[in-house]
Amino acid sequence: MSTLVRTRDTLLARARGCNDKEECRALYAEWASTYNADLADASENYVAPALTAQAVLKFDSHARGAILDAGCGTGLVGEAMARGGATTIDGLDLSPAMLRVAEQTGVYRSLDLGDLTQKVDKPDETYDIITCAGTFTHGHVGPRPALREFVRLVRKNGIVVATILEDIWLSGGFKAEVERLETEGLIKVASVELIDYRKGAGDKARLVTLEKQGSALITG
Ligand SMILES: C[S@@+](CC[C@H](N)C(=O)[O-])C[C@H]1O[C@@H](n2cnc3c(N)ncnc32)[C@H](O)[C@@H]1O
Repeated sequence: MSTLVRTRDTLLARARGCNDKEECRALYAEWASTYNADLADASENYVAPALTAQAVLKFDSHARGAILDAGCGTGLVGEAMARGGATTIDGLDLSPAMLRVAEQTGVYRSLDLGDLTQKVDKPDETYDIITCAGTFTHGHVGPRPALREFVRLVRKNGIVVATILEDIWLSGGFKAEVERLETEGLIKVASVELIDYRKGAGDKARLVTLEKQGSALITG
């Protein structure tokens, strides 16, 4: 095994084993410059960003509105959405290093440092669409308060499209939180698909599409 492959595998393993935000930020500071190339490699073939963008672009009029790419990383989802015609995309991420790479794509209107394990510092109903790919994974962000925050941040009938690693869909409480939001009448589940995630590595994710219902007061 080459040194490059060993390094990539070590970074991936470290990403999934992050114990806290500081570890996560340090990991992505090291990984940011090679992240895109590492995950594009055939042995990884990270298809989640492209599939997320495809799901968004089905909502034609929403996709022409304001989009928040939460956990945007280096901007793979933003780039794919922009190629499909989206023009107003904000990004938010925990890692300054990943945001610097995202900035070089030129597709984001704004890029903010932010923490999805906390309330997001943006007003209610700011966005038509929120995307979140690759960030609901081991050692990163859990379902609460993030999913409820996404619902707060989209307008009525706004759309949330997120990938959730299959390993943690049930055990991490994501399915339960989606069901809770639906029971509370805050969302309608438009679809939950089992998709390829890192196709080369054979892992899977749920691609969840939620539509906000009404304008009920949402508390984190
Ligand atoms: C696997 S990357 C996915 C990035 C991008 N969406 C993609 O699909 O390539 C996970 C991203 O989540 C970000 N992240 C981890 N914890 C976070 C948190 N608490 N708040 C916001 N972003 C976080 C990391 O900095 C990293 O950029």
